[in-house]
Amino acid sequence: MPAFGDESLKTALPFNDEVRAKTDHLYEKVKDRIPEIEWRLHAPYIAAINDLKKQKNAVILAHNYMTPEIFHCVGDFAGDSLQLAKEAAKSDADIIVQAGVHFMAETSKILAPEKTVLIPDRQAGCSLAASLTGADVRLLKQKYPGVPVVTYVNTTADVKAETDICCTSSNAVEVVEQAAQEFGTDTVILIPDQYLAKNVAAMTDIKIVTWAGACEVHERFTADDIREIREGTPGVIVLAHPECPPDVLAEADFAGSTSGMSNYVKDKQPENVVLITECSMSDNVALENPNVNFVRPCNLCPHMKRISLPKILRALQTMEHEVLIDPEIIEKARKPIERMIALPLKRQSMYNHQRKPEVAAIEARV
Ligand code: 13P
Ligand code: SF4
Repeated sequence: MPAFGDESLKTALPFNDEVRAKTDHLYEKVKDRIPEIEWRLHAPYIAAINDLKKQKNAVILAHNYMTPEIFHCVGDFAGDSLQLAKEAAKSDADIIVQAGVHFMAETSKILAPEKTVLIPDRQAGCSLAASLTGADVRLLKQKYPGVPVVTYVNTTADVKAETDICCTSSNAVEVVEQAAQEFGTDTVILIPDQYLAKNVAAMTDIKIVTWAGACEVHERFTADDIREIREGTPGVIVLAHPECPPDVLAEADFAGSTSGMSNYVKDKQPENVVLITECSMSDNVALENPNVNFVRPCNLCPHMKRISLPKILRALQTMEHEVLIDPEIIEKARKPIERMIALPLKRQSMYNHQRKPEVAAIEARV
């Protein structure tokens, strides 16, 4: 499927013997999901990107929602938001190309300010990151003095600069509990995702103040969807992302970050599984788990789907679009991310083990 705003079909590169020699081993990884006719369009870009990466000492950090030809064929590191942030912090490449959305590229720049960080499409945004500004956080701090501010990594650098500690979906419960302990409070501000906040609130006794943000992809799933899927495929194992509404998680067998879901499939090898999240996840995880049947209702993230092979190649050729952040903001925004990375996390957050029936999170308006 061509990505949004993609010019690839107009500017197809030739598929020749040289390209074949460079990419045949990669096609082996993805051939179950990419028909040969489509591969002939992708392969020349994959060969050119992998050559340029070597020449320029560049790495590609690929989020789990990237399409298989990006995730499996040009990504040097793939994973969830937390894993990608950790890779950016320790990478010794000169250039990082973020195959993901803008807030992820900003996180990489904040953690590796000396590197050139490129986002292949500047418009690859996020409804969560767009829902909250640094000024909003300052007002919240005035309204709740002394209450620690935990922000989801799906936020802008300006928001992170106002934050005490960041979290991702894989560590949110633990981060909230640590923040309350460190600040000696029984309340934590966890923003901007109201559903993540409610799902965390169902797992802890800490009181949570949240914000009216939501992921436009995950908020569309409903508990009825899950019941229908179970009726259609009896015995199916349902894995959901914690950006889904709480009643969706209550119907799921397991909820965790994108990598948490992927690990669940790898470890447990269920006969039938459905991933209640972005569509490319199932494609990528299915390629690594050929014995598992994936039931396919899913929602596309239009922002993630802006990233395509032609745009990644153009980014490496032209060094566009470079992510630049005011050094003062970098300095402030780095602390809450580094605090999160430094936490000795004992476990990944699980959102539906011993889940409380009532969901207590206060939505703040400023
Ligand atoms: P994780 O990969 O951290 O689970 O987050 C998913 C997400 O929302 C990325 O857009
Ligand atoms: Fe943002 Fe949701 Fe897309 Fe992730 S899936 S980038 S949270 S809109």
